[in-house]
Amino acid sequence: MTETMQAPRGAGAKKRLFVQSWGCQMNVYDSHRMADVLAPLGYAPVSSPEGADMVILNTCHIREKATEKLFSELGRLRALKEARRAEGGRMILAVAGCVAQAEGAEITARAPYVDLVLGPQSYHRLPELLARVSRAAGAVIETEFPPEDKFDHLPEASAPQGVTAFLTIQEGCDKFCAFCVVPYTRGAEYSRPAAAVLAEARRLVAGGAREVTLLGQNVNAWHGEGPEGRAWNLARLLAALAEIPGLARLRYTTSHPRDMDAALIAAHRDIPAVMPFLHLPVQSGSDRVLAAMNRGHKAEDYLRLVDALRQARPDIALSTDIIAGHPGETEADHQATLRLIERVGFAQAFSFKYSARPGTPAAAAPGQVEEAVKDRRLAEIQALLRAQQAAFNASKAGQEVEVLFTGPGRHPGQLAGRSPWLQPVHATGPTGLIGAVRRVRITAAHPNSLAGELIHPPDQEKHAA
Ligand code: SAH
Ligand code: SF4
Ligand code: F3S
Repeated sequence: MTETMQAPRGAGAKKRLFVQSWGCQMNVYDSHRMADVLAPLGYAPVSSPEGADMVILNTCHIREKATEKLFSELGRLRALKEARRAEGGRMILAVAGCVAQAEGAEITARAPYVDLVLGPQSYHRLPELLARVSRAAGAVIETEFPPEDKFDHLPEASAPQGVTAFLTIQEGCDKFCAFCVVPYTRGAEYSRPAAAVLAEARRLVAGGAREVTLLGQNVNAWHGEGPEGRAWNLARLLAALAEIPGLARLRYTTSHPRDMDAALIAAHRDIPAVMPFLHLPVQSGSDRVLAAMNRGHKAEDYLRLVDALRQARPDIALSTDIIAGHPGETEADHQATLRLIERVGFAQAFSFKYSARPGTPAAAAPGQVEEAVKDRRLAEIQALLRAQQAAFNASKAGQEVEVLFTGPGRHPGQLAGRSPWLQPVHATGPTGLIGAVRRVRITAAHPNSLAGELIHPPDQEKHAA
């Protein structure tokens, strides 16, 4: 996933900032926060790196391919940086995110024209690091886990994110799945206090957000002290967020099956703003592989959770992550994964070929699976998941669904929005409906999106509003 920040209105900035995010949604959120930190220094986001005064690449280390993207992009930026210098300007080139945390000085060894390498825990220190860059002869590398809380030192999120917004409430991971780099790049699990989350959510809504997605590498492990001094879990936090006037929809991602407690399942039944969609990575359907992965749950535990969720909220749609060819995975294990997928019926899913990450236990484990076998298993998994997604989308055809309109569609007169199940929906309608939730009759289902028409045609909107 690649995302660049949109330039706000009036970006005739003194200094031009280009931020590119790869990886998870937490990186997208962090990119916004880095822009917030740099705004008082006169930097405003632009939508391309040409002529920028500062370029930040916010990187992902999760799979080898994700990491390689960084070095191919750096090669391209080097030419732009040199062109800038030839004009008498300077482009500061910074590498942030999980590759920065994992590789540190390795990055500048391979790309000496990089000025700054900074890990995810140091974003609040960007102004100070930039001052060091302008004084330093060589590159500045900052990958410590500082003792202070970066969230306490970040300015209040300022730039509005739009109709749908992200809000990081939890960071880091203590689970140490055998294949995963996140515990090393993002550090130990940490939850932000409820009061800070509620205040940021209110600001997002004041800035136009109608849907807020709470983020965390283990978001459902969130726990904190409520404003009244009592211990809160995620279910309690969702209930408090749902009280914010104007906040129509709540989502949270990514959840771990082990932290999916009864209160959170009940929240899907009891809180209308909590959307009937859950991303719940299972990784494998084989107990042997799940044990090798150190996931701490069995296939049966996952299926029981799915049953409980469907009992609480019959229309809930599930999404997941699957890894094909984890070390030690046999053909029988792979078949068990296909069976689990068949039993659940996912509305959407992400599936990946196992990628050995240096320093993780699985990278050194015996039984590494051959590339060709991984390819074939992944193809089988993806064919099944694709068919399930198409069937799920098709099941909405002819139905009336509530759509949150998020922006203009691709064609003139068209609006783009989202169903409660996170499906993109297109319908003809006036731009005044952006930010509103309206009932839409689904007229066509495509593999990745839906098309529909407003139940109340636009000329009746003023009565329906
Ligand atoms: N915190 C989330 C996942 C974060 S990473 C969770 O616990 O599920 C997102 C997904 O990338 C993971 O769910 C996993 O499916 C995949 N992934 C992580 N490490 C991987 C690796 N080494 N090779 C292939 N896929 C990997
Ligand atoms: Fe990685 Fe596992 Fe932590 Fe998810 S729970 S971030 S997969 S170690
Ligand atoms: Fe990638 Fe780091 Fe997110 S490794 S998936 S950017 S936590």
